[in-house]
Amino acid sequence: TCCYSLIYVSSLISIEVLSYPHAHFLVSLQVLLVFAKEDSQSDAFWWACDRAGFRCNIARTPESAVECFLDKHHEIIIIDGRHSRYFEPEAVCRPSDQEEPSVLPLLCAGFSRRFVENNSVSACYNELIQMEHGEVRCQFKLRACNSIFTALEHCQEAVEITSEDHIIQYVNPAFERMMGYHKGELIGKELTELPKSDKNRADLLDTINNCIKKGKEWQGIYYARKKSGDSIQQHVRITPVIGQGGKIRHFVAIKRPHIDNNNQVECYSLRHRDRRKDSMDDRSVSSRSSDAPSLQNRRYSSVARIHSMTIEAPITKVINIINAAQESSPVTVAEALDRVLEILRTTELYSPQLASKEDDPHTSDLVGGLMSDGLRRLSGNEYVFCKSNQSQLAIPVTLNDVPPNIAEMLNDEECWEFNILELEAATHKRPLTYLGLKICTSFGVCEFLNCSEATLRSWLQLIEASYHSSNSYHNSTHAADVLHATAYFLRKERVKSSLDQLDEVAALIAAAVHDVDHPGRTNSFLCNAGSELAILYNDTAVLESHHAALAFQLTVRDSKSNIFKNIDRSVEFRTLRQAIIDMVLATEMTRHFEHVSKFVNSINKPMAAIEETSTSVSANIRNSPENRLLIKRMLIKCADVANPCRPLELCIEWAGRISEEYFAQTDEEKRQGLPVVMPVFDRNTCSVPKSQISFIDYFITDMFDAWDAFATLPGLMEHLSENYKYWKTLDEMNCKSLRPPPPS
Ligand SMILES: *[C@@H]1O[C@H](CO)[C@@H](O)[C@H](O)[C@H]1NC(C)=O
Ligand SMILES: *[C@@H]1O[C@H](CO)[C@@H](O)[C@H](O)[C@H]1NC(C)=O
Ligand SMILES: *[C@@H]1O[C@H](CO)[C@@H](O)[C@H](O)[C@H]1NC(C)=O
Ligand SMILES: *[C@@H]1O[C@H](CO)[C@@H](O)[C@H](O)[C@H]1NC(C)=O
Ligand SMILES: *[C@@H]1O[C@H](CO)[C@@H](O)[C@H](O)[C@H]1NC(C)=O
Repeated sequence: TCCYSLIYVSSLISIEVLSYPHAHFLVSLQVLLVFAKEDSQSDAFWWACDRAGFRCNIARTPESAVECFLDKHHEIIIIDGRHSRYFEPEAVCRPSDQEEPSVLPLLCAGFSRRFVENNSVSACYNELIQMEHGEVRCQFKLRACNSIFTALEHCQEAVEITSEDHIIQYVNPAFERMMGYHKGELIGKELTELPKSDKNRADLLDTINNCIKKGKEWQGIYYARKKSGDSIQQHVRITPVIGQGGKIRHFVAIKRPHIDNNNQVECYSLRHRDRRKDSMDDRSVSSRSSDAPSLQNRRYSSVARIHSMTIEAPITKVINIINAAQESSPVTVAEALDRVLEILRTTELYSPQLASKEDDPHTSDLVGGLMSDGLRRLSGNEYVFCKSNQSQLAIPVTLNDVPPNIAEMLNDEECWEFNILELEAATHKRPLTYLGLKICTSFGVCEFLNCSEATLRSWLQLIEASYHSSNSYHNSTHAADVLHATAYFLRKERVKSSLDQLDEVAALIAAAVHDVDHPGRTNSFLCNAGSELAILYNDTAVLESHHAALAFQLTVRDSKSNIFKNIDRSVEFRTLRQAIIDMVLATEMTRHFEHVSKFVNSINKPMAAIEETSTSVSANIRNSPENRLLIKRMLIKCADVANPCRPLELCIEWAGRISEEYFAQTDEEKRQGLPVVMPVFDRNTCSVPKSQISFIDYFITDMFDAWDAFATLPGLMEHLSENYKYWKTLDEMNCKSLRPPPPS
């Protein structure tokens, strides 16, 4: 006198059902009533289903019950077991001949509950609801798991799941393919049992373990050893899976082959993480580890050892330090540090957030034109360089042969107000050669390089001839101007005492070559035009890479102008070469704010702090190799864009030349149907004063403030503020040109 409910998972029927998994997880619940005769009990279940919103079928015979089930796959089956003269309940799901009394075979056959006859609809309803909340929900979850594992089995990324104590429980086929193991060789093994890869890096292991033990996700790049013994660089993300009670139950590692060379380590918290829960986890882990401390520790370090890796990025250490500090910090500090970690993850640490384009089109055009590398590249628009092939101009045999008017001019070379434009005219567009000879002699460059003055002269001529005279700005006069500013800065007391002679020679050479073969177009233009150079340098620091590479190519091409020929096998040469390349690349504007911020943070601020307390030790700051590098970069950057700090007349002339070069670029972009990189530099509409004001506001003021604080340059700062006032006045008059209109 009872009914049985059958939950389908078990014996024969369950296998069939599981092999036809539904694609969607939310299906409406279906009930099958197997009653030989309609009576008050079957009616009560019928109405209970109706009340619960379940769909219901009734079958009268075992055969029709099986047929109906195979059609609908009901979640709940209720079989009438009161009248054995019609059928045996077990026989419905297991049509075997064995006859066994008692409840046990019913359970074995898959019956999960026994319902004592009660024809009240509420009693039936309660029974159905209890089943739905218990076993049926579990079934739905299992069904969903089935789909999720199907996804895991077919996904491209390698997935490895370990238990809380790092026993491997699952690896997917992508993992087997990537690492060359069969899953049978891995499952059930502790991670330590697998072959170790390269020497582990203690720092990194600690980082990973600190991270994941606290319930945080760890991401990074490392090398892992495949079964074959080869190592593979992988991008890895390890996520702890937190189960009931906030305890870590599993670790899931997702890996894919690492493709680019950007070594970054990321460590950040899961969202909605509860710090108090974390500390509970720590306790539960450590109490477990006190049971078997060595085993536990071995296991924790092993997770990282198997994931053995080589990352050298300093950011790893920084993140380590922050993680360690978080451990012993109050919640508020730890949370602030979480935000710090979040910020560290972004690579654009030194780029300010630009205001929207409407605010200041000049600034955003300058930024777009000077700072961004091209995102689009149009094919079929090769930009052809004008190959300079100037006839060799008569050049003095020695410095003593310099024409007297030029020699006299060069006597003023040490003065900031030196007029480079007069030199350009007097030397018939050879300012770099003459000024270069004079400055290099004064700094002992030939002695340092152990080369003759004739070689130096020939080299200067070669470099000067490789600038394009047809550029209105980036021709050899600009190079001579930057060389002049560089020499001026090198003579400043603070700079001089910070750098050694190798640094000085490197700076002078870098200044002379820093724009060699400049095509008079910006990086963005070259990228958009799909120029050969942009393709060669992957759209990254295209021109600066070219200037640096070409300078060395030109130099070694012919022994007669090879200023490095007597030192090219020395350690010194490599240091010199590195310094020159670094400085030329530092002139690229994409990293402007990075260079300036580093200088301020590593040099200005510590020196200001020391000067407040004592006067002696600031040389220690300046003379470290890292900081000398920052000083040299800052030096050439300031020399490169010093035009707004020159006397007004020179400043105006340079403003005119750069505007003209940008106008020519815009003209060509329009002509060729290329994207216009800097629309405000349109010769028909451009306000030169506005563009100068924006340039000074955005790039110059902060940089020269920092440089002045270091090198002490009151003259330059005075020119800068006068020139700024000049442009402001013109702008207030609504004047768009270089000079005010003549009085009428
Ligand atoms: C049937 O179920 C109802 C409600 O659950 C209960 O009140 C009643 O006592 C039950 N009747 C029998 C005969 O067990
Ligand atoms: C470059 O100049 C040299 C002579 O200095 C000449 O022989 C050569 O043909 C020129 N090349 C071009 C492309 O004009
Ligand atoms: C300078 O170069 C010459 C070759 O031109 C070489 O004989 C001499 O040893 C070099 N001197 C030094 C100090 O390297
Ligand atoms: C540089 O360009 C200007 C035009 O803006 C020109 O007058 C000058 O002669 C050029 N200088 C050299 C060295 O080519
Ligand atoms: C450009 O990218 C390719 C492919 O990533 C790389 O092999 C090459 O070395 C890169 N070239 C430069 C100059 O970075």
